[in-house]
Amino acid sequence: MEKINKIIIGKTKEALAEEGARLFAEIVKRVAATGQECMIALSGGSTPRKMHALLGQDPYGSRIPWNRVHLFWGDERCVPADSRWSNYGGVREDLLDFIDIPAENIHPMPCQLPPEEGAVRYEKEIPDVFDLVFLGLGADGHTASLFPGHGALGEQKRRVVPLTGGEPDVPRLTMTFPVINKARNVVFVVSGREKAEVVKHVLEDRDTRFPAAHVFPVAGSLIWIVDREAVSRLSKEVISAFQTQ
Ligand code: 6PG
Repeated sequence: MEKINKIIIGKTKEALAEEGARLFAEIVKRVAATGQECMIALSGGSTPRKMHALLGQDPYGSRIPWNRVHLFWGDERCVPADSRWSNYGGVREDLLDFIDIPAENIHPMPCQLPPEEGAVRYEKEIPDVFDLVFLGLGADGHTASLFPGHGALGEQKRRVVPLTGGEPDVPRLTMTFPVINKARNVVFVVSGREKAEVVKHVLEDRDTRFPAAHVFPVAGSLIWIVDREAVSRLSKEVISAFQTQ
């Protein structure tokens, strides 16, 4: 699969969601055509929820071969699934309740276990290489649950680790950069003016004090699906340096 770095600029949050859903469907189709099952890690937070909802509706809901898709989570807050903070709970509400996907293809992080045990368990469940990893971006530059200054940023062996932090400040499980950077496609979905400063730190300054700047797929593609506000601080040179669409 060709390695490309690309910025896709959506004019509105709806356009952003549409671009994400289109890319999701395109990658599933590409992988399914090889006879393989498509391994996807979803991100948490609020930004991807419109995209998740679109994927559950036509044309996507009925067209995507969900029996060929496995859904994982890049990180999870260790809260009950019906908590408003649960990343799994949000995807169940927006997407899983609307699609015909086999239960064994849904892989929520085992947050009901003690975090260390859950991390060890999930590490065994995730594939060696993801076809697609979605990521969000916090205003502090965190991605997944990899927060600035945290020791997990330097983790090079473990693929899933427990930690506490973020908003809400609760115990979490998160994938680490070795997993993320091994993926065939890494897709950030970022919107809003409040992210513009950190997008510049990450994409233009490449300032590794901001965790998302550690995301550089070794052989895979890196795609940023953004709205105009989120890239409003990026220089034209940087935007054109990525193959924009
Ligand atoms: C989490 C998320 C986190 C999220 C960013 C952006 O579980 O906290 O995975 O990494 O993607 O915080 O969140 P918003 O999309 O809500 O701004």
